[in-house]
Amino acid sequence: MSVTNPDGVFPGDSPSQSRPAAAPTRRLTTKVTMPALQEMKRQGKPITALTAYDYATSRLVDEAGIDLLLVGDSLAMVVLGLDNTLAVTVDEMLHHTRAVRRAVRRSLVVADMPFGSYHGSIPAAVANAVRFVKEAGAEAVKIEGPRAELVRALVDAEIPVVGHLGLTPQSVHRMGGYRVQARSEEAALQLRADADALAEAGAGLIVLEGVPREVAAAITADLPIPTIGIGAGPDCDGQILVLHDMLNLTFAPHAKFVREYADLSTIIRGALDQYRDDVEQHRFPSDAESYHLPKALRDQEPAHKKA
Ligand code: KIV
Repeated sequence: MSVTNPDGVFPGDSPSQSRPAAAPTRRLTTKVTMPALQEMKRQGKPITALTAYDYATSRLVDEAGIDLLLVGDSLAMVVLGLDNTLAVTVDEMLHHTRAVRRAVRRSLVVADMPFGSYHGSIPAAVANAVRFVKEAGAEAVKIEGPRAELVRALVDAEIPVVGHLGLTPQSVHRMGGYRVQARSEEAALQLRADADALAEAGAGLIVLEGVPREVAAAITADLPIPTIGIGAGPDCDGQILVLHDMLNLTFAPHAKFVREYADLSTIIRGALDQYRDDVEQHRFPSDAESYHLPKALRDQEPAHKKA
């Protein structure tokens, strides 16, 4: 459906000419909140999370009953085509968060704070986080790294926080690439201490990315708040994937932890080839896909042919 036609019907179309929107699989209305996700941990219910960056896909994610929707700074790579996440700006993240917010009824909407937006003073970081809540409707922000002091300041400002530890993509230059973290005993103990400190400071959830399953399992077992894993094994309280990875809409080999749930690249390529052929072969649009003059006028000599 085009933007000019949000309801699927042009003036003059009969109901039978308009195509019904694809039926939602689920449209639950009980809003997911940070405390609700924490309750899920207590009840041992797995938390589902995905990234999304625009209205259409966010609506599908929300209607599918996914609990948490992250407007990840991965949009720099999967939507904007950049080499890493570092260049995406606060204004770009706000723009996408607004689009997501308009689509979502149920999921918890979390906005990723981009690189540089929380690495200076704490007041400046809080001011940037406030923009995500006030200007874009985010219900929590995510920050990377062991920044307990900042978490405390954000929570004091009434902003729920998702921490992100392990492989933190904004640290790509310091880490020397995207490498699995916490592989030594010392590093695993440090990760555990960092997770404890974030929880103690008031973080509502922690994303654990690219860490050994055993380390994520031990942290998850002891931490009072939920862990959401990505490349951290099955024992976390929840799982998150980048939407474009699980739908094969990225143009690079997948990491080991990505499961491809659909191959949208192939589906889209097929549709595009078909459309191009149909236009080139005069098969699109058909007469049935065209508008017509009223019958009485159609039977008259066309005005443009009159002398
Ligand atoms: O930006 C992102 O997509 C993320 C997920 C990998 C958790 O931070």
